[in-house]
Amino acid sequence: MLNTQIMEMLAVTEAAALAAGRWTGKGDKHAADDAAVEAMRSAFNHVPISGTVVIGEGERDEAPMLFIGEEVGAGGEEIDIAVDPLEGTNLTAFGQANSLAVLAFGPKGTLLHAPDTYMDKIAVGPKAADIVHIDASPTENIKNVAKALGKDPSDLMVCILDRSRHKDLIAEVREAGARIRLITDGDVFGAAATAIEGTGIDLYLGIGAAPEGVLACTAMKCIGGCFMGRFAWRSDEEKARAVEMGTPNIDGVLTMDTLVNTDEAVFIATGVTDGEMLRGVKCSAEGTRTHTVAMDSGSKTVRFVETVQTL
Ligand code: FBP
Repeated sequence: MLNTQIMEMLAVTEAAALAAGRWTGKGDKHAADDAAVEAMRSAFNHVPISGTVVIGEGERDEAPMLFIGEEVGAGGEEIDIAVDPLEGTNLTAFGQANSLAVLAFGPKGTLLHAPDTYMDKIAVGPKAADIVHIDASPTENIKNVAKALGKDPSDLMVCILDRSRHKDLIAEVREAGARIRLITDGDVFGAAATAIEGTGIDLYLGIGAAPEGVLACTAMKCIGGCFMGRFAWRSDEEKARAVEMGTPNIDGVLTMDTLVNTDEAVFIATGVTDGEMLRGVKCSAEGTRTHTVAMDSGSKTVRFVETVQTL
């Protein structure tokens, strides 16, 4: 029963967020990331699981901690773990909204070992989950989502990473009449926000990092929306290496079940900086305060937890 581990796992993202939060606005994204990685790695030592990192900081030879294949936990149920100790390193370094400490887990063998490449992504909340497709044009998806939400396309808010590779996508979305929320970083939040009441984001489109796609998809599995992807290889060598490693669906559609092949996944994120979904780390003379969301697809629950740690 994975949901018995949720409270213990909360302490893991909280520790990463608290460590990264100390670096908010200091202009040093590497220091913020290192602090989060170290804190998350050591917090895992107290969790009664036998976890394998399937999405982490990189291959064993390039990442000293939380590398792919690393075993974490104090021993217990065998699970797959995907981590991003600091999602939005620049957001933290420059004190901007929505940076998060994130992890997802599921039974062993259920989370896709996404290679370090890009992924074309589409995400939408539960009401429009059945009518979007990664193969449909942005115009078509916008029309269908607007209809499902009972909105005019001009009232729709599409979230897109602000990158030059999205020039044509942005032009087409504007042409289709929708509004755009351009984000500088943090597409786990961008995708998950489509299913979270109050964020104002209806649809997520565009290319971001592939590992973050698995994390976002886990959140969507828990909240009930739709996430679809397709690897966007940067080179033939990268693609050939993925083939060699046995990555499935090299060029095909990555459905939610390909990315997260279980109905018992958990997604946990703690806010580092303030954002629409979570408040960031607060420090006072008395101690610290963190804000975390824990989504459990097994029990279909979304818990918001505020933790005060006194000095
Ligand atoms: P970091 O936290 O590693 O800085 O990544 C943030 C992020 O914005 C992701 O949310 C997104 O998927 C990816 O970077 C986009 O990559 P790129 O900056 O190369 O376009």
